[in-house]
Amino acid sequence: MYTKPTSLTEFILEEERQFTDATGGFTLLLTQLAYATKIISSHISKAGLVDILGSSGTKNVFSDDVQKIDIFSNSVLVDILSATDQVATIASEELEEPIQVNDNGKYIVYMDPLDGSSNTAVNVSVGTIFSIYRAEKGLLQKGGQQIAAGYVIYGSSDMFVYTCGQGVNGFTLDPSIGSFLLSHPHITIPEAGATYSVNEAYSPLWDVSLQNYIASLKTTQNALGKAYKARYVGSMVSDIHRTLLTGGIFLYPKDQNNIDGKLRLLYEVNPMSFIIEQAGGRTLSNGKSPLTITPSSIHQKVPIVLGSPACVAEYEEKVR
Ligand code: AHG
Ligand code: MN
Ligand code: MN
Repeated sequence: MYTKPTSLTEFILEEERQFTDATGGFTLLLTQLAYATKIISSHISKAGLVDILGSSGTKNVFSDDVQKIDIFSNSVLVDILSATDQVATIASEELEEPIQVNDNGKYIVYMDPLDGSSNTAVNVSVGTIFSIYRAEKGLLQKGGQQIAAGYVIYGSSDMFVYTCGQGVNGFTLDPSIGSFLLSHPHITIPEAGATYSVNEAYSPLWDVSLQNYIASLKTTQNALGKAYKARYVGSMVSDIHRTLLTGGIFLYPKDQNNIDGKLRLLYEVNPMSFIIEQAGGRTLSNGKSPLTITPSSIHQKVPIVLGSPACVAEYEEKVR
């Protein structure tokens, strides 16, 4: 007996029916965002054959070397999201200033068009991150005002993972029909996990209590009596997707050279924190959820710790 799978579009339409004032505009926005990521996926999967690898020769607002794939992904997303007529403003890691798209647009979209982009050249999984707000409340809203957030991970399979504040659901791309199909309904993060994920190369620059906490993970067991393993891909979407599904803790802390850390509040930390909290996990930035921070600028950086409740509680006990 064939059981028809649920497509992302069907799932979003179902969610939309719960909102009596829904006009279909949000559904159009999300489904077109998914369409844009399929184009990005198709180029990434043949990166060595098309001219999208390597540096573009330009620097972004962080003086990071912008990869060609960053520019490609950004332009695909800007073009397709603008054409929906649903978007008032697009703010992107790859754009110094936000783009005012449509004065009548209902939504603001923040995005990291390609997260972990330097990994594309060496076939390591990367992703696209998005965060959606209602436009009427302006650009610098707290993360708690997000109406939706999610990511697409371009990995051994491509997955679209998102939340609208009613839990987290994952959809796997079936390349044979070009659709994202519901594969991970109601994702919840394990209460405890046995992986910690941080770039230890910077440990000499950390506060001593953080150095001691990470050192302690090498000699103690987690709440379930399991020894910890280290896992660090170097693309936030990959490291957090693994943490979401198998539990554990992810950290991008501040250090002596980067007192705000590296990850950007509005298009990396807030969307991923919304997902983790909706999946039952915990998030901390300087001792509180980043979703409570009133942003000061669109490219603002914040330190972040997130993951399984038991792991984050252990971090809170040991790191002052
Ligand atoms: P992006 O490619 O969008 O600039 O993001 C890269 C980020 C993030 O994906 C990852 O967690 C972090 O950079 C890794 O930084 P380090 O190389 O300093 O560990
Ligand atoms: Mn990024
Ligand atoms: Mn990026």
